[in-house]
Amino acid sequence: MNASPRSTVFSGAQPSGQLTLGNYLGAMRTWVQMQDDYDCIFCVVDLHALTVRQDPAQLRAHIFELTALYLACGIDPARSTIFLQSHVPAHAELAWLLATFTQMGELERMTQFKDKSQQHKHNINAGLFTYPILMAADILLYHTHRVPVGEDQKQHLELARDIAIRFNGLYGPVFRVPEPLIARDGVARVKDLQNPTKKMSKSAESELARVMLLDAPEAILKKFKKAVTDALGVIRYDEEGQPGVANLLNIWCAATGQSREQALAHFSHHQYGKLKVETAEAVNAILQPIRTRFQELNADREMLQTVLASGAEQARRRADAVMEKVLDALGLPVARSRF
Ligand code: TRP
Repeated sequence: MNASPRSTVFSGAQPSGQLTLGNYLGAMRTWVQMQDDYDCIFCVVDLHALTVRQDPAQLRAHIFELTALYLACGIDPARSTIFLQSHVPAHAELAWLLATFTQMGELERMTQFKDKSQQHKHNINAGLFTYPILMAADILLYHTHRVPVGEDQKQHLELARDIAIRFNGLYGPVFRVPEPLIARDGVARVKDLQNPTKKMSKSAESELARVMLLDAPEAILKKFKKAVTDALGVIRYDEEGQPGVANLLNIWCAATGQSREQALAHFSHHQYGKLKVETAEAVNAILQPIRTRFQELNADREMLQTVLASGAEQARRRADAVMEKVLDALGLPVARSRF
């Protein structure tokens, strides 16, 4: 490591059940690489998960599973901070303070809120509405330089920036204004296997549409064999005309580390069957070791608790230092017992 301190990266995922292959190739795998270049903080955002109704036993299981998955994918607690959002009270605390710097109109414009309130018509709770403020608090509490974001979270990051700029404008430079981090190569935008113009999502109706990180090899093979392609019968890269084939080629490239040219050279005179089977095999080759590690790690709750406890301690220390500045800037006398 060189002498200048490394930039801080913050990211989080909700413990809402397993991750998809899309989450892994599009996000988690790049997080693992970021550990080489950045001071990384990875959060299991359990408070965010409460914006939709959760079963307590299931939520608890999902929290430990996601922690185990982080580790199984290669997030290293010796190099990065891994913690649970609810273990650091400053997140909820700062969210309250930042809510007073966020306009209703700004929240009303959030497309995720509009989508989610459509999906959960019976439970459009205030937490769903203020979700982006909690996310802003997550980011701003660590003087985060960079946030790796996909398309769907860009608007939330933009709001976090606006809130930080607004606050700093009133009180001086308290917060660092975070920037998005666009990952290097090797990031695949994995599409739905049944409906390849859409992103692969956990909530797709058909199980065949998505590959989960912990799916058994046979299930993965079956899903790829049933992947929707087209009737043209030629393997070319044409996202518009042949989205299913393009998706398989992208996944094969992401899983094998080969380029699109190499993929086309390898498959172009063959049939879809070969592309499907070899893509499944390539995916299985990268997921198999993750599955094995996950099984071991997830069985060791005690170890997971220890990892989360030490992550929370590191996070709390950093977050509290920022909170102290925020409270002071606002004119709230900092409790002596706190710091
Ligand atoms: N909202 C993000 C998602 O659903 C998760 C998240 C919460 C997050 N806080 C964050 C991501 C802070 C990046 C930074 O994917």
